[in-house]
Order: sequence, then structure tokens, then C-alpha cells
Amino acid sequence: MTEADWGAVDAYIGQRLLAPDAALDAALAANRAAGLPSIDVSPPQGKFLHVLARATGAKTILEIGTLGGYSTIWLARALPGDGQVVTLEYAPAHADVARSNLAAAGLAGKVDLRVGAALDLLPALAAEGRSFDFVFIDADKENNAAYLDWALKLARVGATVIVDNVVRKGAILDATNLRPDVEGTRRFFDYAAEEKRWTATALQTVGAKGWDGFAIGVVEERASP
Ligand code: SAH
Ligand code: DHB
Ligand code: MG
Repeated sequence: MTEADWGAVDAYIGQRLLAPDAALDAALAANRAAGLPSIDVSPPQGKFLHVLARATGAKTILEIGTLGGYSTIWLARALPGDGQVVTLEYAPAHADVARSNLAAAGLAGKVDLRVGAALDLLPALAAEGRSFDFVFIDADKENNAAYLDWALKLARVGATVIVDNVVRKGAILDATNLRPDVEGTRRFFDYAAEEKRWTATALQTVGAKGWDGFAIGVVEERASP
């Protein structure tokens, strides 16, 4: 099996387990038409996030890193009628595409999209007394340790916190690789290793996006803001 086969198997999984979905297809097409990078979660990963949010019984979800809102659609659809996703995006051009995609998917009323650097936006969520059942971290990897720290301030005990892109084709083991995302991922693992309030593991993934992985854990104790 080669890397090309990973994508073919993702397509097979998509054909078998993912129903045809006009809103999701339209969101991906709009993202590409607007020139956004093709770094949305893959369709099987999107449904994985959806299933996890459902399994957590999540009514409130925080997403850090919206891009065009593809993962946001999967997450918002996991919510009960009165649930909400708060999603944070730095690039106004990405947020504009996401706003349009979410409206077209009929989900605008379930999503609070905030534009700015996540580290500037997160304190306001704490000040508002917000509490989240599920957190998906998928923005700039160099800040992942800080995002985990915030997630533990904002998530309730028992919440699921999941982090995308923690393997980076194995680059985390290459000590000579000093790319900010790779260094940031190592700092994230160092932080998580010492963080007793988050019971976590990480799983490697292969698929249409190559070789990467998710870290996932449950919140044992809430940190004070
Ligand atoms: N979750 C999306 C993909 C997100 S890609 C999906 O699966 O569909 C990462 C996004 O994080 C990009 O849109 C990028 O602009 C955004 N980002 C980068 N740095 C950020 C920051 N400091 N704060 C918030 N968002 C940031
Ligand atoms: C890449 C992939 C991602 O899922 C992401 O969030 C950011 C970057 C990438 O492959 O470069
Ligand atoms: Mg990602």
C-alpha cells in the first residue's frame, strides 16, 4: 500500500458510510473557488468529529480555526436544537467564506463566528462565563499548548478536547526540524505530558490528507480562568 492508496480508501469509506451531501460539497467547492488552502478535515474525519460530539452529548462546542467552515458544519449538525458552536478565525477572508457556507447550509443561527487571533478572543469567552462540552483545536499549530491551556479553562469536567495535526508526517521526531508547527506540536506534547487535568491519547491517521494524527482527551478538572 502506498500513500495514493490512503486517499482511495478514504474515498471508499466515503462512498460506503457518508451519504451524498450537497451542503458539504458546496462548502468545499466554495472554499476552493475562493482560493482557501485545502486543509479542511477530510470527509471521514469530519464525520468522526460529528460522531464524537454526539457521543459526548455536546450542546456547546468551541472550535479554534474555522477556515471555510467545513468542520464547523459537521460539528454544528451534531448539536441539539438549542446548541451552539463558537468558532474562531483569524483571517477575515476565510471567515467571509465560512459565514456564507454556514448560511447556505442553514446553520447560521447555530454558529457564533468570531474573527481575530484566537488568543485575543479566548479571554472574552471566559469573561462571558461560557462553558463548552467539546473543543476542536485546529488553527496555528505553534499555539497548541496555549490553546489546550485555554480549553481547560473553558471546558466543563467530562468535556472532550480534540486537537488536529499532531503528527505532521512524523516530523515531530526529527530534532533538526525547527518549523514553527513542528516545534509547537512538541511543546504541545510536553505540556500535555505534565497536564493531569486532561486524560489524553493520540492516534495517527493516514488518508486523503496524508500521514497525521489527532490528540484526544477528556477533561478531569476545570482550570480557573
Ligand atoms: N477546521 C477547519 C480547518 C482550519 S485550517 C476545517 O477542518 O474545515 C486553520 C485555520 O486557522 C485557518 O483558516 C487559519 O487562518 C486559522 N488561524 C491561523 N492562525 C490563527 C489564529 N491565531 N487564531 C485563529 N485562527 C487562526
Ligand atoms: C495542514 C493541515 C491541517 O489540517 C491544518 O489544520 C493546517 C495545515 C497542512 O497539511 O499543511
Ligand atoms: Mg487541521
